[in-house]
Amino acid sequence: MSEPTAEETAPEPSFYDEIGGMSVIEGIVRRFYEGVATDRVLGPMYPAEDLADRSAERRLRMFLVQYWGGPTTYSQERGHPRLRMRHAPFIVNREAQAHWLALFRPALDGAGLTREQNTKFWGYITYAAEFMLNSDD
Ligand code: HEM
Repeated sequence: MSEPTAEETAPEPSFYDEIGGMSVIEGIVRRFYEGVATDRVLGPMYPAEDLADRSAERRLRMFLVQYWGGPTTYSQERGHPRLRMRHAPFIVNREAQAHWLALFRPALDGAGLTREQNTKFWGYITYAAEFMLNSDD
């Protein structure tokens, strides 16, 4: 028996691959950010320059790409995600969370994933949004 080749030992395709890779996550995050600037609660919260140059959009995109098993560009550029800490400068209360999720829901639905894939993606998003809460106001 010879050593198995790289292909024979390749891991299962990631969820990232399964849902269609970079372009699909790019689309979800683009649709989400289309609504951020004009949102009554989120608009004033997101740094205007990060919306203008789309760097905020890029960070969320690369984070989700990495989370679901795609390229690890996020951590190469930003280090460990430490998302709770990175949200500390912002007041993430129930109202902000509701607005965030209300924008993400249709952005995700627009990706045309299977019901199972959509449920899995949404499950992580709602879990993470709960974890990001940092204010009772
Ligand atoms: C619960 C409501 C949330 C609010 C109000 C919120 C708000 C914000 C704001 C204001 C920023 C700074 C924007 C910028 O980068 O310039 C940010 C960054 C970010 N958020 Fe959220 N966020 C929420 C939930 C989430 C969730 C659920 C995730 C992940 C699934 C997430 C992932 C990120 C990432 C990856 C960044 C960039 C971090 C960095 O590298 O600096 N956020 N968020």
